[in-house]
Amino acid sequence: MEKLNIRGFEIYKSLLSQEAQQALVKAVRGVVEVAPMFSPMTPYGKPMRVKMTSAGQFGWVSDRTGYRYEQKHPNGNAWPAIPEPILDIWNEVSGSARAPECCLINYYGEDARMGMHQDRDEGDFSQPVVSISLGDDGLFRIGNLERGGKTDSIWLSSGDVVVMGGDARLTYHGVDRIRFGSSRLLAKGGRLNLTLRVVR
Ligand code: SIN
Ligand code: FE2
Repeated sequence: MEKLNIRGFEIYKSLLSQEAQQALVKAVRGVVEVAPMFSPMTPYGKPMRVKMTSAGQFGWVSDRTGYRYEQKHPNGNAWPAIPEPILDIWNEVSGSARAPECCLINYYGEDARMGMHQDRDEGDFSQPVVSISLGDDGLFRIGNLERGGKTDSIWLSSGDVVVMGGDARLTYHGVDRIRFGSSRLLAKGGRLNLTLRVVR
């Protein structure tokens, strides 16, 4: 394990063992059985390139009316509880006394990416966002508190964990591309990213 700090983001390289990663994939499969992945529509009418679902009291959804947290999956079911092995990671690295209320699960297929954005739909920006990477490597870009300007990029690999908090809580970030097939954790390839958030 190696800990880096890039623009205030704390990056724990290789925090999770292979066994821990496998347990997380199994936990995600359980979530997806109850709350299937879907391709959200952006408010501007273009579908997002990642597929997503959530666990927890709240799930993050996007459609023509905007981005927001909802207490139900678009299919009407309540989101499943956040699995214990995922909560354990929050407790290990977040430094927060609160419990996460959402675990957003994003799946990046071969051509998926995520544009530069801030995570700002939550109610308390003193609470960090904790991100867990599984499967293929993803090229993560870290910018500034305002859009534009210089950026730094780092490849996030399976088992890496990032804490986006403190003064960097509202720093712009995104994923430029993945290295499809670089990991054997997921049988069909691709990248899973889990982000834990306190919503209220
Ligand atoms: C996100 O910003 O929500 C996802 C970050 C990532 O996929 O690493
Ligand atoms: Fe984000």
